[in-house]
Order: sequence, then structure tokens, then C-alpha cells
Amino acid sequence: MSKVYSRYQTPSLLKARKRLGKTVETINYQMDSKYQTIGNGKTYCVKTYGCQGNLADSEKISGLLERMGYTNVVEEEKADVVLFNTCAIRENAENRIFGELGRFVKYKKNNPNMIIGICGCMMQEENTIEMINKKYPHVNLIFGTHNIDKLPEYLYEIEKTNNPLVEIFSIEGDIYEELPVKRDHPYKAWVNIMYGCDEFCTYCIVPYTRGKERSRKPEAILKEVKALIEDGYQEVTLLGQNVNAYGNDFTDIKYSFADLLRDLQKLPISRVRYTTSHPRDLDDETIEVMGMGGNIMPHLHLPVQSGNNNILKRMNRKYTREDYLSKIKKLKKAVPGISITTDIIVAFPGETIEEFEDTLSLVEEVKFEGAFTFIYSPREGTPAATYHNPLTEEQKHERLNKLNETINKYYLEGNQRFENQIVKVLVEGKSKNNENMYTGYSEHNKLVNFEGSDDLIGKIVDVKVIKAYSWHLLGELIK
Ligand code: SAH
Ligand code: SF4
Ligand code: F3S
Repeated sequence: MSKVYSRYQTPSLLKARKRLGKTVETINYQMDSKYQTIGNGKTYCVKTYGCQGNLADSEKISGLLERMGYTNVVEEEKADVVLFNTCAIRENAENRIFGELGRFVKYKKNNPNMIIGICGCMMQEENTIEMINKKYPHVNLIFGTHNIDKLPEYLYEIEKTNNPLVEIFSIEGDIYEELPVKRDHPYKAWVNIMYGCDEFCTYCIVPYTRGKERSRKPEAILKEVKALIEDGYQEVTLLGQNVNAYGNDFTDIKYSFADLLRDLQKLPISRVRYTTSHPRDLDDETIEVMGMGGNIMPHLHLPVQSGNNNILKRMNRKYTREDYLSKIKKLKKAVPGISITTDIIVAFPGETIEEFEDTLSLVEEVKFEGAFTFIYSPREGTPAATYHNPLTEEQKHERLNKLNETINKYYLEGNQRFENQIVKVLVEGKSKNNENMYTGYSEHNKLVNFEGSDDLIGKIVDVKVIKAYSWHLLGELIK
């Protein structure tokens, strides 16, 4: 290490894997006044690469920076502080980030005082830090998913010493409430209800990068949603890697995800969504609450990953194809017309053609109205990364293409069922491709485009669907 670092602590996956049974405290965040002026007259830019959880973190990072006095700037090359909030879920997510970092070498040459920071899930992996230090010496700050609250302290230290700083905690800390947050959207908000994941699916890095499952207290969540209602928000999406495990870690109270949904149903927020559900933990009580409707939207993202029992077992998903199908049946009965979407991985190590075909037949059976589909990507430190995978790249892509063809058929069918019907749309703004068109999502989470006007933005309006396309619905505003 030729460079001088003011702190240097790198991650350990071995430590991260441990679940220590430590009690999690809730701490109300307060920013020391000495940090609240260091950004005055300076600008920042946060770049996000991951899931909704990652986006929610970026909103907190932006909130912290603004409380420190920084203002947001769109032209990233001009920013005084640039933060990359990274994702480690698949190799291609990581490659994208490295490409982007390369671009900033040039920016930093023009603006040597620019502070470049990297955070997020990728920083919790063991080999990343060394690689960044070697290839991207212009990076000043590296921190992880467990110490976002320390960002003001880090920037203060860098400003003072001019030395780079690396600090990654492998084990999660307490839950911070009252962190400042600068939300990207004025009508739709992400609300974390829990952090971490204890599932340990054999392919997945998240339980290592995000630590053990910790649920936020119900009163903190309800308080946040009430404040959002006051601010004019129409929709909340509850976030967690496995929201159905919400509350399992409470030792003092008995309060489940279904209880939370019931409490949210009583609040005057127009729409409640949640992601992600784990098929094993999605229980009858939750299905029943969804069936009561109200503000709980008739859409569920329920990742199945594979339609074959042997693969599901080797993925450590802890449910069978039959279990999954029976939950879908219950859901469709409780919430007539529910739209179901999913995640699927193809070419898991050792997946045979017959096993892959079971996934295709499951897609046909459920008729998913949308899916994120992925080729399995080995993640160092996870069990599946050591499994033998004889498939060629060509075979992997062939499977992905075949799966997507099947999925796309049902995407279109799922949209066609709304033709000539009136749907409720939360209007988000003007369509990117057409000046006169406005755009938003229906209750079933379908993208709807229609001719409208600026005064509709942020409102829920009735739109008659004229034509269904694969990726959106075209409609007419009902006045
Ligand atoms: N907690 C959520 C989703 C987490 S990650 C859940 O359990 O459903 C989002 C999706 O990325 C996963 O559902 C899975 O389909 C995919 N994924 C995760 N790890 C992967 C890997 N190593 N290779 C390919 N896809 C992966
Ligand atoms: Fe990863 Fe499985 Fe946890 Fe989802 S449930 S985050 S796929 S380990
Ligand atoms: Fe990526 Fe971390 Fe989310 S790995 S998908 S940003 S939890």
C-alpha cells in the first residue's frame, strides 16, 4: 500500500455470513453541526446501479449530502462529490460500474478536487477494494452498505486530511431512523420495512452484502407513511429482500407483515405495493389481506427462479414447484384479476434441458404478466459458485431467448385483457417519446400512455384502454 489512507478496513465474507444473534437497536440519527456546512457552495451527484433497496439508499445518501449543504448537479463532470452506489448481484452489473469509473479519470484530471466515492453492495465483496485501488487510484472514498450514516464524517475527514479512506463493516449495525432523505419522486415513495436477508439462496450474494434480517419498528414505518401522506404522496412501495419475513426478528412484540398491511390499509394513502416476496414465506394471512383490497394493489412480484424441483432444491429456495403453484392458485382466488410477475434464473449450474423445460411449462401454467430473466452468474463466496457448470455461453443464451419468447407472449396477453376497460392511472408526467402523451401506472402495474395535460400529474385518473401493446397500454382519458 503505497498510498496513505486515513482509515483502511476491508470486508470479510466469512464474517458477513455469520448470524450472531445480536440485538438490533434503533437509533435516531442526528447530524453533528460541524458537518452541516462543509458542503456549502459545493455540488454532488449520486449514481445508482442496483435494486430498489439500492435506490432507497441513494435517496438517503442524497439527503445526507443536502443536509451537509451540498446541492445536486445534473452534469456529473462538474460535481464536487460523485458517489457510485453499486450492485453486486451479477457480473454484468459490476462491469458496468468499472466502465463508468474509467470515464471519471478524465473528469478528475480537469477537476482535481473532485471527490469520487464508491459504496453499495459491491464494496462488501472481498476482491473489489484491491482491484479499485490498483486500477482506479483516483477514488477517494470507499464505504459499504452498513455505514451510510457515517458519510458526513468521512467527507469531513477527507476534506481535512486530503487522504483517501476505505471503511467497510462486514457485520451489520443498528437501524438508523430519521436519516434525511431526498426522494427522487414526488408522488411515489420507497419505504424500507426491513434490511438484510437470511435466506441464503445458494446463488445469491445479498445475505453477505446486506447482513442479517432486521425489521424496522411498525411505529417508525407508520410514522414515515403518515408524513408521506402529509407531503402529498399517493403511493408507497414497501421494501425488503423478503418482506414476508417482516417481524420475525421482533422479540418484544408479535407483529407480522400481514399486520403491517392491515395497518396501512387504514391510512389514507391511495396505493400500497411491496417487493420482494419470498414464495415460501408468503402466508395465507397476507393473501387474505391482499384479498381485502382497498389500497393494497392487485399486483404481486413473486420470484420463482425455476420451475424444477431439483434446481429449486439446489438453489436452497425451500419450496417446490407444487408449493408455488398452490400459492398462485390461492392468490388468484383471493384477488381476482391479480397480475403476477416474477424473476427467473436460467442455466443454474448443472441445469439439464428437461429441468429448463420445467421452467417453461411453469411459465405457461402461471401466465406471468412480466418477468425479469437472468443467466446465472457465479458470485464468489456463494455455494453455487463452486458447482460444476458444463453449459456453453451459446446454450445459456439460447435458454434465455427461449424463455423470453414465452414470457413475452404472456406480457402481451396480460395487457390485452385490459382492452376497452377503464383503468386507474397515477399520472407521473410526460411520456419521454411523445410530447403530447402522459404516462403512469395502473393498479395492476401496467404502463399506460394517454393524451393529457400537466395539471393531471400526481393525480389518479380514469383512462379507457384503446389498444394493448407488449410493453404498454394506449388509452384515452375519461373526463
Ligand atoms: N430478494 C429477492 C430478489 C433479490 S435479487 C428475491 O429473493 O426474490 C433479484 C433477482 O436477481 C433474484 O430474484 C434472482 O432472480 C436474480 N439473481 C440473484 N442472484 C443471481 C445470480 N447469481 N445470477 C443470476 N441472477 C441472480
Ligand atoms: Fe438473495 Fe434469496 Fe435473499 Fe432473495 S431471498 S435476496 S434471492 S438470498
Ligand atoms: Fe444489487 Fe445489493 Fe440490491 S447486490 S440487487 S444492490 S441488495
